[in-house]
Amino acid sequence: MMELELTEAQRATRDTARRFARERLERVGVEIDRTHQFPTAAVAELGALGMLGVFIPEEYGGAGLDNVSYMLVVEELSVECASTGVIVSAHSSLGSWPILGTGTEEQKQRFLPRMATGEWLGCFALTEPQAGSDAAGQKTRAVRDGDSYIINGTKNFITNGSEAGIAIVFAMTDADKGNHGISAFIVETSTPGFAVTRIEEKMGINGSHSAQLAFSDMRVPRENLLTNEGEGFKVAMKTLDGGRIGIAAQAIGIARASLEASLKYSQERQAFGRPIASNQAIQWKLADMAVEIDAARLLALQAASLKDAGKPYTKQSAMAKLFAAETAMKAATEAVQIHGGYGYTKEFKVERYFRDAKITEIYEGTSEIQRLVISSQVLMNR
Ligand code: CAA
Repeated sequence: MMELELTEAQRATRDTARRFARERLERVGVEIDRTHQFPTAAVAELGALGMLGVFIPEEYGGAGLDNVSYMLVVEELSVECASTGVIVSAHSSLGSWPILGTGTEEQKQRFLPRMATGEWLGCFALTEPQAGSDAAGQKTRAVRDGDSYIINGTKNFITNGSEAGIAIVFAMTDADKGNHGISAFIVETSTPGFAVTRIEEKMGINGSHSAQLAFSDMRVPRENLLTNEGEGFKVAMKTLDGGRIGIAAQAIGIARASLEASLKYSQERQAFGRPIASNQAIQWKLADMAVEIDAARLLALQAASLKDAGKPYTKQSAMAKLFAAETAMKAATEAVQIHGGYGYTKEFKVERYFRDAKITEIYEGTSEIQRLVISSQVLMNR
């Protein structure tokens, strides 16, 4: 079902991302964790390298590569900087893909070229103060007025929300119809009525801003409606299927960084007259980390390959996201443990990996929601 050997193009893309991450993101990752600054320069360089439009076809200004390449890029960036990893993932999977996957030809031509270069970053405005895991509980309203819609409401925890040029906004056009009353809109963030009202202070991924957005009588032209009125919930679910591959890749990157740091430290650190890596207690932790990282990557490659093949991948992307997130959390926890007291200080990066890993079990569907999605798929025999 899946190709274990990467193609020449996939390997070359991964190697370019790895080089960029090592040369450009190593310091950035440390700095923005401390300063909470958005990595503007690094993101612009990623745009110039084609890394903000990896799976966007060349006809819309993208690199014309596949989802496997995209997943490998997010993993490599996240090894050095998980904030940059999620910025790229939210922009690509959640901002650009809904237009590519569900938009009209006119919408693709109008929006994707500027998103592929990063001139416009994308964000995905689904979550609300009262609609997190229960994504269908939207309170934001869109009311038809002539050739446009007037949108009012509030969105929470929106990755890239304060930097984005384009927001994919979900709103109720018919509250009586439940999830069938939700519609999706492409919104230029320069539209009057669009405001960033708060940036959250978080435990980790400090360089990636999570914004609260408020829409107040925001007029959006009808031609910016994605698909049809009432089909927005399906757009959101399909988008999240792909987004979960990006978050799986981010989690794998954090787990890899945790293992790499642990390998280095455990071979250098002496206790009882020998490197701590000579103790089976440490060796077993390293072995488990290595196994789980490879298993998580195989799951993510499976989901990305199915997406590239145009086959269903809802179950596989939820499995990849669930397993990779739990792997990242476990690997980062063990990395801190292996580093002992030093692992609890800001002097060692494993402390950041521990804080960054946690969010992968929460956003784009908590681990509990992934289990819900997976169980409903296996019960339907998919
Ligand atoms: N693809 C296409 N359609 C889908 C689908 C999918 N993957 N999943 C569900 N649907 C369809 C169903 O077929 C159903 O269609 P009908 O009504 O026509 O029969 C409809 O959607 C409703 O499905 P459910 O009854 O299963 O919906 P639900 O209300 O019970 O919710 C859920 C399902 C899986 C819990 C969903 O609400 C969910 O995924 N919640 C988590 C939301 C989430 O991941 N939020 C993260 C926000 S983004 C983020 O974190 C941002 C960031 O910036 C990083």
